Amino acid sequence: MMSMSFLANFFAPPTASTFAGQVDRLYFFLVAVSVFFVTLIFWLVVFFAAKYRRKSEDEKAALVHPDYRLEIAWTVIPFIISMVMFVWGANLFYVYARPPAQAMEFFVVGKQWMWKIQHPGGRREINQLHVPVGQAIKLTMTSEDVIHSFYIPAFRVKMDVVPGRYTQLWFQPTKPGTYHLFCAEYCGTSHSGMIGNVVVMEPARYEAWLTGDTLETNESLVSKGEKLYNQFNCNSCHSDERGPSLKGIYGRTVELVDGRRVTADENYLRESIMNPSAKVVKGYQPLMPTYAGQMNEEQAMQLMAYIKTLAAEQPAATKESAP
Ligand code: CUA
Repeated sequence: MMSMSFLANFFAPPTASTFAGQVDRLYFFLVAVSVFFVTLIFWLVVFFAAKYRRKSEDEKAALVHPDYRLEIAWTVIPFIISMVMFVWGANLFYVYARPPAQAMEFFVVGKQWMWKIQHPGGRREINQLHVPVGQAIKLTMTSEDVIHSFYIPAFRVKMDVVPGRYTQLWFQPTKPGTYHLFCAEYCGTSHSGMIGNVVVMEPARYEAWLTGDTLETNESLVSKGEKLYNQFNCNSCHSDERGPSLKGIYGRTVELVDGRRVTADENYLRESIMNPSAKVVKGYQPLMPTYAGQMNEEQAMQLMAYIKTLAAEQPAATKESAP
């Protein structure tokens, strides 16, 4: 469709992810439907106002009986059009909201006024995100202060970055290049300066880039997390009866003292580090001190990456015999 790609290039940012074309098609469909009906109704208003205007002072309007076929038509047709919009949009959202399992996981911390990014291998950058082309990328994000929003127009993705919890975003870049990264939520004086670049590279160049910088030790997230685990002495309680075992914890369902059952996902683990008394596991006392203030969000992400590997080493329920 020649005309459509021309329109897209003219009005829209570059299209550089698997979502971009899909989002644009839906968006242009919505615009086309709106333009069609606005035009139709505008001209009908003008036409009817002229045709049925009052022609003399003593003219009386004729009695008109409604035509039900007309009423049914203008009810059913908009219903069908709006259901097309709904199903189309919901389908797209379903894909958008579910990062594929094999996605590479990056971690993002927003703070006034910068983006701090950690690669799976431990490489860190600020206001820059280097990724390989053709690979699904998942971002797990949080904020150290206020709400920000991570926005890459060329990929047609945007997600709030919220203090106190993790949000996720994923995309698969399709074209090497450099694309704008914005903060899309007003977050204070330098909100407009909270910008950066996403650099999409051929996989080989990405590998070279990863290993190219010798100034920084590329210690992996997991090994940084393991150091924190030892430094904060997590094991002293979590290996005896004072605290629940962390082995195989990630992804498991946990029963709490108040009888609730929650899944031990990233948000649960983070809350249990920062605010341990919020969700105490059944059978345990709320003994654990809070680590908010002692551990920053990037460290919490590293610790989390390590705790997840505890799950991988020892699959859940090997020595569980609870009902
Ligand atoms: Cu961060 Cu606006």
